Amino acid sequence: MELLALCWHPLWVPCTLVLSVVLWARRAAWRPAACPVDLRGKTAVVTGANSGLPLTVTPEGLSLIFATNYLGHFLLTNLLLDAMKASAPSRIVNVSSFRHQAGEANVQFLSGKEQPKNFNKAYNSTKLMNVLFTVELARRLQGTGVTVNALSPGMVHTEIMQNFSWWVRLLFHLVGILFLKSPTQGSFSTTYCAVSEEVEGISGKYFDSDCRLALPSPLARDPAVGRKLWEASEKLVGLHDGGREPASRKVA
Ligand SMILES: NC(=O)c1ccc[n+]([C@@H]2O[C@H](COP(=O)([O-])OP(=O)(O)OC[C@H]3O[C@@H](n4cnc5c(N)ncnc54)[C@H](OP(=O)(O)O)[C@@H]3O)[C@@H](O)[C@H]2O)c1
Repeated sequence: MELLALCWHPLWVPCTLVLSVVLWARRAAWRPAACPVDLRGKTAVVTGANSGLPLTVTPEGLSLIFATNYLGHFLLTNLLLDAMKASAPSRIVNVSSFRHQAGEANVQFLSGKEQPKNFNKAYNSTKLMNVLFTVELARRLQGTGVTVNALSPGMVHTEIMQNFSWWVRLLFHLVGILFLKSPTQGSFSTTYCAVSEEVEGISGKYFDSDCRLALPSPLARDPAVGRKLWEASEKLVGLHDGGREPASRKVA
């Protein structure tokens, strides 16, 4: 009863307004135009994702959400590597999330042989895999002139909830209007990693939504975990030893 009374307290309205103005003012202070950009001689791959997908397995034996949010990026990036090397200096940018911190690096999730305990865990784990992939790829690309970094765009008012029920989407849009970044603001850290002078030569790192270098979770930085994920992914998508040979879909 007391909790209910607290929820309906009249102070909520002014507090909400003050908080949204503070967040807006902070965002308005950002000046993307002040970020020097120069696309000449550079190639960027920026990867997207989806949320709210069911925990189903595709006819190819892949978990739908892991295929959409991670394995697809892994395969596409690998298929583009020769072109990226040929146009070096070039950059690969993986859009991850601060939610990677709550992810699990279980390679059995990729094929659906084991399932994350709920949707949130699945999404967070795909975002963790984006960072692990980034760090491992950076190690493999040393000396090629191709760099790869991951970032968090922050909380952004986009279509990311499109697969959720109408009331979750409604809530997201209400919160989004007041508190979240616009899609333009949300694209800033991605653009920064793709084209800014400051990121030239930096590889295998993680940037936060304010374009600052940040440490990803300890799990995301574990080279043994990254290698294991790479090898499992390579088998599942049919890339083997850097070639294009289809491989068994079995993951040890
Ligand atoms: N919004 C946030 O608060 C937030 C927070 C942290 C991280 N992120 C990350 O930011 C990235 C962009 O998300 P967003 O917020 O911009 O969401 P969004 O508005 O839903 O955009 C996702 C993009 O990915 C594409 N996509 C989704 N599934 C696909 C598939 N199976 N095949 C090909 N394309 C597919 C979508 O294409 P269609 O337009 O055709 O659907 C869309 O262009 C994602 O990696 C997300 O995890 C977002």
